[in-house]
Amino acid sequence: MSTPTLERTPAIAVRGLEKSYKDLQVLRGVDFEVEPGSIFALLGSNGAGKTTAIKILSTLLKADGGSAGVNGFDVTAQPADVRESISLTGQFAAVDELLSGRENLILVARLRHQKNPARIADDLLARFSLTEAGGRKVGTYSGGMRRRLDIAMSLIGEPPIVFLDEPTTGLDPQARIEVWEAVKGLARRGTTVLLTTQYLDEAEQLADRIAILHEGRIIANGTLAELKALLPPATVEYVEKQPTLEDVFLAIVGGKEQS
Ligand SMILES: Nc1ncnc2c1ncn2[C@@H]1O[C@H](COP(=O)(O)OP(=O)(O)OP(=O)(O)O)[C@@H](O)[C@H]1O
Ligand SMILES: [Mg+2]
Repeated sequence: MSTPTLERTPAIAVRGLEKSYKDLQVLRGVDFEVEPGSIFALLGSNGAGKTTAIKILSTLLKADGGSAGVNGFDVTAQPADVRESISLTGQFAAVDELLSGRENLILVARLRHQKNPARIADDLLARFSLTEAGGRKVGTYSGGMRRRLDIAMSLIGEPPIVFLDEPTTGLDPQARIEVWEAVKGLARRGTTVLLTTQYLDEAEQLADRIAILHEGRIIANGTLAELKALLPPATVEYVEKQPTLEDVFLAIVGGKEQS
């Protein structure tokens, strides 16, 4: 698949990225670019290296080879500039259960030296439909509310690029939809979103482009339509059945297993 010509400097540019943990080669030359203001999904199964890639891009981990640029800054040479440009919502929620949602937001706004922490907290609560729950201890929140608060916290300081590591893992269907709406809202406001997921339907729902990470490399990268086009045309049974992203994934991974 050919890479489209980007009109602007990519928000994220990854070239030949390599990372091993001792003898375990996790990333074996990963390449992709993310256009500013888009939602990009890095799709892969357990242990594929998604969190490893996110950690390198957010300067928490050093790569062994290749390069990565975030917001035009090199992760190795300009880590402080990269950190100013991003926020990271990790795989495990980082909210304080004993504080209320509003208090969590105010705390982070203070830590990030924002001018009006209370107003920022109230704006974010409204934006993520948490105004009513704002005064309650986070310990009483549902999984979806917690995740939304977690994402809201990561937006304090208005970073142009947001990393979301498996934003809906462990959530029930209703909570997943709530988080999806929150993520779509970010992109509508011009934020670039790089998310990782093991869920094909999540990538299908959210992403402008999807890259599949498998055995250390990107084995497919394109829009949903481009990925679907990799499959044979829909078969006509009683009704026409379109291939799902799952079919695409299995077709590609299945085809590469022997190589
Ligand atoms: N610090 C570490 N030391 C040794 N091995 C590690 C370390 N971190 C990750 N690994 C291994 O590297 C591989 C990739 O891990 P990573 O966490 O990046 O995968 P992932 O795609 O995020 O998986 P998941 O979907 O389960 O979160 C796994 O086999 C994992 O066990
Ligand atoms: Mg992970």
